Amino acid sequence: MSNPTARFVLRDLSLQSRLVIAAFLIAVGLGYFSALVQLHFQHATSGNLLPGTEETLAAYHGRSGLSQLERLLRADESQSFNGTGSMRQAFFGKSARWRIDTNPKKKTPEQVQSLRTEREGEVEAVLDWIVTGLNKDDYESDKHTLPAHLIGRPVTDRYLVKDANDKPVSPTQVRIKSILDERCVRCHSADKGGIPAQFPLDTYEDIQAYAKKEFASGMSLTRLAQTTHVHLLGFSMLFGLTGIIFSFTSYPGFVRGLFGPWALVAQVLDIGCWWLSRYDPLFAYIMLATGGMVALGLCIHILFGLWDLFGAGGRTILFILLLLGAGLAAYLKFTVLDPYLSRERLAPEVRDAERHNLLIHRAGG
Ligand code: HEC
Repeated sequence: MSNPTARFVLRDLSLQSRLVIAAFLIAVGLGYFSALVQLHFQHATSGNLLPGTEETLAAYHGRSGLSQLERLLRADESQSFNGTGSMRQAFFGKSARWRIDTNPKKKTPEQVQSLRTEREGEVEAVLDWIVTGLNKDDYESDKHTLPAHLIGRPVTDRYLVKDANDKPVSPTQVRIKSILDERCVRCHSADKGGIPAQFPLDTYEDIQAYAKKEFASGMSLTRLAQTTHVHLLGFSMLFGLTGIIFSFTSYPGFVRGLFGPWALVAQVLDIGCWWLSRYDPLFAYIMLATGGMVALGLCIHILFGLWDLFGAGGRTILFILLLLGAGLAAYLKFTVLDPYLSRERLAPEVRDAERHNLLIHRAGG
């Protein structure tokens, strides 16, 4: 700081302080990258890296005229297993004993297929109970009568209403509450652990809350409120810090003035869109842009911030590190990411079969 009238810039700091800042920026970059990985698992359909327009629309706006419950049970199994994707897997891959019940050493592919068909029958029964008005007596007496178009669809024997001799009363009388208890409540009950316990489904009233035909059937308000505060508090801290660091770079004033607060502002707009898209799907499209703006802002903070911290020597090292990083990223893309995504694109049946072959192969030595 030789010239007292000159503005303080990052380069005036000691090497040690600048190293800390550099390490911080790199760590934030990696952190943001892992947030993208999480986004993939939460919202992207299988086989896609990031959620596109359709998934964003489904997650935040939903489909009008459908209740959240109906949407979650109709959505394809390839969607992520959460409140914005699909809960259909609860009858298949995420059901208790699925791995045992589909074990290739004990079951033929035909048996696995008929297991699937019976489980489909359960889903259809639950959906029918929902769309025909969520009859409370049916739930409490654990008995729902299937409509004509579902007659002949096999349903897991355990869930058929039985008489005193343990024989099915009729192939159309289904134990609806038992299905829900065993398929859903095993995760969705206040006395179970984990996140789903926060959304209990063990009483009629709990289920009813999710079965309202909503104007928007996207993420529930509870969940939206949760993610909003986590994002606002967490990311604001980060973008605030990277922004302040960027504001002390030696770039022209208007660049710093524009991009310093950029990520923070974009983040607030983005979260605003989460809420507004409940009412107007247009905001789900705008959200894709605001999300991109956040990413752009952060990239500028990190890359240009790092660049401005060092002199020629430091920049050379930085450049080499960036090149190595890009090389590593490209390598991982081809060896890990692409094969992973193309596996995700396989139908669940094919994945079951693949896993079975692998198991048999391993067991056989
Ligand atoms: C293996 C555990 C598991 C099973 C079984 C399960 N779920 Fe879920 N469910 C989850 C998880 C995990 C989430 C996502 C929670 C989160 O992160 O918001 C979720 C979310 C939901 C939500 C959204 C809650 C909200 O307010 O955002 C609904 C509704 C739901 N499940 C319904 C069902 C139904 C209906 C069934 C039965 C067919 C079922 N679930 C079975 C684990 C499970």
